[in-house]
Amino acid sequence: MEAMQHYTATSTAKTPPPHTGVARFLDACYHRQPDATPVWFMRQAGRCLAEYRALRQKYDMLTMVKTPELSTEVTLMPVKTFGVDAAIIYSDILTPLEAMGVSFEIRHEVGPLIHHPIRNQQDVENIRIPNGPEIAPYMMQAIQMVRREVEGKQAVIGFAGAPFTMACYLIEGRPSRDYRNAKAMMYSQPELWHALMEKLTTVTQSYLGEQVQAGVDAVQLFDSWVGALSPSVYERYVQPYVRRIFDSVKQTGIPAIHFGTGTSALLESMTAAGGDIIGLDSHVELDEGWERVGFEHGVQGNLDSILLLTEWPVIESAMRDVLKRAANRPGHIFNLGHGVLPPTNPDLLRQLVEAVHAETQR
Ligand code: CP3
Repeated sequence: MEAMQHYTATSTAKTPPPHTGVARFLDACYHRQPDATPVWFMRQAGRCLAEYRALRQKYDMLTMVKTPELSTEVTLMPVKTFGVDAAIIYSDILTPLEAMGVSFEIRHEVGPLIHHPIRNQQDVENIRIPNGPEIAPYMMQAIQMVRREVEGKQAVIGFAGAPFTMACYLIEGRPSRDYRNAKAMMYSQPELWHALMEKLTTVTQSYLGEQVQAGVDAVQLFDSWVGALSPSVYERYVQPYVRRIFDSVKQTGIPAIHFGTGTSALLESMTAAGGDIIGLDSHVELDEGWERVGFEHGVQGNLDSILLLTEWPVIESAMRDVLKRAANRPGHIFNLGHGVLPPTNPDLLRQLVEAVHAETQR
């Protein structure tokens, strides 16, 4: 099988050629000192790029996600334009819903809309648990195509939405400020909540397993909205499921990144749930966050995305602050605190990648 010939898919040969993006990225994941700090950006493949916007004139987002050639093309755009060390597959956290029998769309500048939000026991029972190969097979093709294109120079990152964040979308049906329906279900109908989390966990495990088989170098679990919970609530209603997902990724030998936003109160609980690298958003200082996560783990982050809407000297000084706090410890993956904002000037992202590499050259 193709994935098995890839050095990251075997436990014996984890050292790729030095001075490539994938080497830097995996060095950070495995806590070795890389030749320079690896950099990539969440939402790097998106609307800040003119070529992306031009393609989107022709196709809607889900068409692009479901067409491996187009998904590959978009995945590679930021690799070429910014010189990042990793390619994240162009898809969405919602894509596995189709195989689960949940109909949805992604509406431009609004976000995901679920056509029949999950609100009662019947809705939860109606959710299908697909077999692994049924879940977004087009993404697995895109992974194989991207891997061939990057030729081992950049890491290929797969991902999934975490059960809490997926449940928020499924229950609210649309982006929400406070996830009131989801949290109300969690508090008042815990059995129904747990049944939903159980299903989402099972599907997420299979989905990430498929991506590993298709050849990703690492996976990121996006628990973007988990900052809405306190530690004790997280530990009771969410953590057991997230732990099961990380346990199953661990068995594959592929490194995992655990990401959330608004997680200042949750870093210890999220770290306990799993992940080799813990995402830090821009509400924490990188050194303080890292200390709480524990230096035996790596961290990813955490330049404020909004800085990229300003000018280079402002960005550069904030970048230096992040790097100073990382203090050359192994295990830092440079990223933003959250995704690239659509109005970002791509030249600044390219300049940022270059500067992080230059400043951290070892
Ligand atoms: O470059 C990458 O990061 C890889 C691709 C990727 C996208 N979405 C592309 C996308 C990934 C990993 C995601 C994950 C995702 N999707 C998350 C978790 C990450 C996060 O930001 O916390 C969430 C919450 C979603 C749900 C979602 N999909 C939202 C909120 C939106 C934005 C709505 C909008 O129009 O601003 C989407 C759509 C989406 N996903 C776009 C992209 C590039 C914009 C699509 C477009 O209009 O062209």
